[in-house]
Amino acid sequence: MKTIICDNYEELSLQGAKLIAAQLTQKPDSILGLATGSTPVGMYQKMIEMNQKGELDFSAVTSFNLDEYFPITPDNPQSYRYFMEKNLFEHINIRREYTFVPAGNVENVEEECLRYDAAIDAAGGIDLQVLGIGQNGHIGFNEPDDYLYCGTHLTPLTESTINANARFFDSTDEVPKHAVTMGMKSILKARTIILLASGKSKHGAVSALLDDRITTDCPATLLKLHPNAILICDKDAYNG
Ligand code: PGA
Repeated sequence: MKTIICDNYEELSLQGAKLIAAQLTQKPDSILGLATGSTPVGMYQKMIEMNQKGELDFSAVTSFNLDEYFPITPDNPQSYRYFMEKNLFEHINIRREYTFVPAGNVENVEEECLRYDAAIDAAGGIDLQVLGIGQNGHIGFNEPDDYLYCGTHLTPLTESTINANARFFDSTDEVPKHAVTMGMKSILKARTIILLASGKSKHGAVSALLDDRITTDCPATLLKLHPNAILICDKDAYNG
């Protein structure tokens, strides 16, 4: 993995936005894979600024988000669809009907998962996938386990992830216990991957990315198999 070490979160956000800008300059109708969580918010703000200054155009972009809580409705303020609207889509010139987030409110979730992977393939596959990383090394909601899934699937959230995400809810009890997430193959098929990691709490997970081993106990380590994966981290995440 190529590694870019930034002084701080501000610089990390700018580096990420510059890679998105380079991608869109090269291919204005790129398919972007997007992520939620607090880490990409700074990068999304930079992308919004660039768009509003006329430096970055999203008018031909299609996006697919990594995951969504289950069950949840898209208008629920805790949903990832809502998060994307508020933190990015509402502020840029992306065509809303070309922004996709797995549905958290369908009856047949298996069908939704198959449909989601098929929709990514039909769009031409993801050109650039943005990822955050969990303290436990998850990417999307591919949680540490003896085995991981290839395709988009419904997954229970681990206690560590529920506790980490409780800060967005009134109480831990309110955090949904399941999510629909792109699987490892869906993620690794992206032509370029950028993984953003900020803060000391990510140091353990980032350390696992910097040696030569891969393990399903830290799903992000599978990114080492990808020919074009870039880790952008700040000094706190890198040094601990
Ligand atoms: P965070 O989440 O950016 O809010 O730390 C990252 C993740 O859990 O993937």
